[in-house]
Amino acid sequence: MDSINTLLSRRSIRKYTKDPVLKEVKQNILEARRLAPSATNVQPWHFIVTTSQEGKEACSFGNFNRWTSEADFIVVGVYRKNNPMMDNYAKMDVTIALQNMVIAGWLQGVGSCWIGAWNDANLRQILDIPDDCVIVGIIPFGYPDGIPVTPSKKPLDQIIHTEKW
Ligand SMILES: Cc1cc2nc3c(=O)[nH]c(=O)nc-3n(C[C@H](O)[C@H](O)[C@H](O)COP(=O)(O)O)c2cc1C
Repeated sequence: MDSINTLLSRRSIRKYTKDPVLKEVKQNILEARRLAPSATNVQPWHFIVTTSQEGKEACSFGNFNRWTSEADFIVVGVYRKNNPMMDNYAKMDVTIALQNMVIAGWLQGVGSCWIGAWNDANLRQILDIPDDCVIVGIIPFGYPDGIPVTPSKKPLDQIIHTEKW
């Protein structure tokens, strides 16, 4: 399959095999994050990579997202607070970097899933995240144990406005 078809086949993966992600594959995923675009190239991001059971469990939210503990590794994307304009850029930068990792993983056969719900105080405490940092998102990674069916997706003509809304 060529790259574009692979990319278009991406799914959120919440079930992983027990195989550890190969070192060079993981390195490529981390590089895709480091080399992502950044507003005025400030690169305000920090990422915590956790492989410990404690860290992985801290990425769930009560009974929701319990499956995170089965990921091979999890990346938590954060930025340090600055001023409102830079913080807005920083949030975009971290989001793009995390999604670059999702794509880099998928192109190499590694599954992942965005996590938008977590216990902020608990996660900060377990991962030692400073108070002046904002957690933007969490991505667990691992080799897929099955590929889910494609969920319903809106057709292009419902979301694209040509020239004007
Ligand atoms: C910002 C964001 C937050 C999400 N949070 C969660 C989450 O907390 N738990 C979860 O299981 N999936 C989460 N997802 C995954 C979505 O449920 C998934 O992308 C959507 O159902 C479409 O499926 P697909 O990614 O396979 O196309 C999140 C996705 C995004 C973009």
